[in-house]
Amino acid sequence: MSKQNESRSMSRSHTLQSHLVSPSDTNHLQTIFGGNVLAYIDEAAAITAMRHSGEIAVTASVDSVDFHSTVKSGDLVNVEAWIAKTGRTSMVVYVHVSVENPATGDTKTTTTSFVTMVAINQDRTPVEVPAVYAETEEEEAILELGRGRKRNE
Ligand SMILES: CC(C)(COP(=O)(O)OP(=O)(O)OC[C@H]1O[C@@H](n2cnc3c(N)ncnc32)[C@H](O)[C@@H]1OP(=O)(O)O)[C@@H](O)C(=O)NCCC(=O)NCCS
Repeated sequence: MSKQNESRSMSRSHTLQSHLVSPSDTNHLQTIFGGNVLAYIDEAAAITAMRHSGEIAVTASVDSVDFHSTVKSGDLVNVEAWIAKTGRTSMVVYVHVSVENPATGDTKTTTTSFVTMVAINQDRTPVEVPAVYAETEEEEAILELGRGRKRNE
């Protein structure tokens, strides 16, 4: 059966990675280098796309990155990623980065991003990916964000 006729849940590929920010991750203002946040985002998006497609996935484009607030040395950073949209061989991944206060569990959004990943085979040829479906209102809201996006928007 063609993977295009399959549909997989968003929860199946949802990814959560936590990072503790060290002084070497930060600049002279003791806030994190933007490139480190981009590396977190790219890795979480790749894992999510590989889980969803069951294939190798490469970054085709980082469609948008919005830095909402800073991250400091010693902060606990959570990076969450969900499939927000699928094409024939491409997947748009929504990535949400937040800082968590470990004492209270309170979180604050620091960065949001949309990344387009493409599933490829061993010959680096793009291969079909399954569709995606939501099971919760939060996931449906992410699919709605994905539906509203055009490439590089
Ligand atoms: C991404 C890549 C596999 C696309 O290959 P391609 O031969 O252009 O493939 P196609 O034209 O058939 O496009 C395949 C899919 O990728 C999408 N795509 C291609 N370039 C894209 C871009 N810049 N942004 C978003 N989507 C893109 C197409 O829209 C298509 O999606 P669909 O199948 O869902 O409709 C290829 O360009 C590549 O390998 N790039 C390098 C990836 C890489 O090394 N990333 C790490 C960065 S260091």
